[in-house]
Amino acid sequence: MPLRIGVLASGRGSNLQAIIDACKEGVIPGEVVVVVSDKKDAHALERARNHDVKAVFLDSAGKTREAYDEAIAAVVEAERVGLICLAGYMRLLGAPFVKRYFGRIINIHPALLPSFPGIHGQKDALEYGVKVSGCTVHFVDEGMDHGPIILQKTVPLREDDTEESLSRRILKQEHKALLKAVKLYAEGKLSIEGRRVRILSQL
Ligand code: GRF
Repeated sequence: MPLRIGVLASGRGSNLQAIIDACKEGVIPGEVVVVVSDKKDAHALERARNHDVKAVFLDSAGKTREAYDEAIAAVVEAERVGLICLAGYMRLLGAPFVKRYFGRIINIHPALLPSFPGIHGQKDALEYGVKVSGCTVHFVDEGMDHGPIILQKTVPLREDDTEESLSRRILKQEHKALLKAVKLYAEGKLSIEGRRVRILSQL
């Protein structure tokens, strides 16, 4: 049975697109069945509609975090989602939601965690003066950008890098990393052992 993937996204949705394409091409044995966004005009929702994927806008106005997360959980259950991908999703998920779905939620972050968590991963790395940055795909736990790491890809910095140029190069690697992580998950090749994620095909 192909993996039923639900994607949470707040913006542009290029990572979402990478997953949709890889599913359609048969690279990932799965299907994106629903995209949920907290932003009504998120381009990610339009991308979903363009591919006949269910697009759901969930308005957070006037809702507590718990109520909002419950609304997401209702969609996840109704669509029988097996894997929840956070792809540029800018809201924090509450602890009850994360506990309930631990091991079934992954996130893509544009820096080499545990360095530079938070929403300015690329800018923070550049300003710190690192020579290598990159991206991280990890399982989501209760901490921000904190859960067990599935895989990382490095991106060397250039002398003339700006936040934009660095973000662009990291984004290319994000698409590759996310796709690979989702594929491994869909193939049942990931096992969480404490903080470590074992890639079973590499053992
Ligand atoms: C990516 O850089 C992702 O790592 C970060 O937000 C950005 C989303 O890009 N969390 P997109 O919406 O997938 O194009």
